[in-house]
Amino acid sequence: MTAVGIDAIEIHTGKLRVDLAETFAPAKGESPEKYTKGLGLNASSFPDTYEDIVTMGANAARRLMERHGLSPSDIGRIDVATESAFDNSKPVSTYIAGCLEQVFDGDFHHANKGERKFACISGTQSLDDAYNWIKAGRNRGRSALVVATDTALYARGDAGEATQGAGAVAMLIDEDPDLVELSTEQGYGSADETDFLKPNQQFPSVDGKRSVQVYLARMREAVEDYESVAGDIHPEDFALLPFHTPFPGMVRKAAALAYRHMIRDTAIEEELADEIGRQPRFEAFDSDEAHREAMSEYTDRLVDTDRYREWYAEVVDPTLTVSREVGNWYTGSVHVARISGLKHALENDIDLAGRRLGVASYGSGAQAEVHAETIQDGWAEEIAALQVDEQLAARRDISFEEYERIHDVHNHDVDRQAEDVEEFTTPSGEFVFDGWGRMGERKYRFVE
Ligand code: COA
Repeated sequence: MTAVGIDAIEIHTGKLRVDLAETFAPAKGESPEKYTKGLGLNASSFPDTYEDIVTMGANAARRLMERHGLSPSDIGRIDVATESAFDNSKPVSTYIAGCLEQVFDGDFHHANKGERKFACISGTQSLDDAYNWIKAGRNRGRSALVVATDTALYARGDAGEATQGAGAVAMLIDEDPDLVELSTEQGYGSADETDFLKPNQQFPSVDGKRSVQVYLARMREAVEDYESVAGDIHPEDFALLPFHTPFPGMVRKAAALAYRHMIRDTAIEEELADEIGRQPRFEAFDSDEAHREAMSEYTDRLVDTDRYREWYAEVVDPTLTVSREVGNWYTGSVHVARISGLKHALENDIDLAGRRLGVASYGSGAQAEVHAETIQDGWAEEIAALQVDEQLAARRDISFEEYERIHDVHNHDVDRQAEDVEEFTTPSGEFVFDGWGRMGERKYRFVE
């Protein structure tokens, strides 16, 4: 069977940075530790005045294509995953293709283009679409370009303002991939939920606390569904577990539940029993509530054990490093977690070829998906070619007043002409927003 998976990957971060502990927390009258310790975030990325989901996605895709010597004729489909689209009809992928055609010879006239929507999980769904298209033999030897791009902005004053971010991840899906092969097995947990939505509005209506609970509930169902096809999972099965990361604190909660689930009825549970007891079994309790409380107390003891801490430090924490510095990239977030974990392995001389990732995606509304990925021989070369640290370091730090201005620039309800905000950075070698066309379309140009 032909291996299909991610052959190449690139990111583009919004070019502005807000320091959450130093800048945001004081302006909000909050403790910096809410961000650094509670949410696990140091900073958020924001788009400059000339950046949006198209420029960020096109910039990531251009670098990916250049690095791999690709031309438009090598690509048979372009799928964009986003929850920040600005058009209910014309897909963002057409804008991105238009940008790329400005700088590459040839065109994408024979590529199938689309846009995927299901909150943050649509990036992974687009990977799936590409995988299925190639497995079905409809790709004619061509690759698929998947771009997950978002400006994760919340209304001013909303609790979600703490977890904002902006950036794009571009991925090339192909046969015999250099980075990871995707498993055929998948698990889903999906239900009609009202935790986060944008009913014809730019900024989300969010029930933040509920969204955390829904994330955990759907993720549990996805894991059980995955196990029903792939067999029970164990902590040693995966070198890294990249989760959807709206903020690292969310993953801290999810990882504890995942580990608890994986060690149930295993030698690890027995080995830990002297120290923290065995896991409370449902049958031993009179009510759901009593069982839940006992489980929660067990989990608190579990996460304090050396065994858990070592596992978390090796398998989960490395996936959170980039997220801590950029915030939530919605559709791109789980793909940033994959990059972050692999980058950590590369920097620490850990050879991952042949090992597996357990990838756990989530989108509000709500759906979780779990699948495995096998790391390929070319992984280290691909990850070494990324310039994540350089991009993060090149961002311009902005003050809280500047943050307020840039939030207004990207707020569709604020009259842009009246705003007249100067750009904070000078674009170079990238696509920029270039004003509006006669039918209200957005225009773009490449700046040398
Ligand atoms: N020191 C250490 N930790 C602190 C702290 C301090 N001084 N102050 C607060 N914290 C902790 C809180 O205990 C909490 O952690 P916990 O959940 O483990 O208890 C965390 O920091 C966040 O604080 P909280 O008061 O809950 O923040 P909030 O009311 O601003 O809401 C979200 C947080 C995530 C609900 C909110 O940002 C949100 O709605 N985000 C968007 C939706 C989202 O991302 N959902 C996730 C699923 S996709």
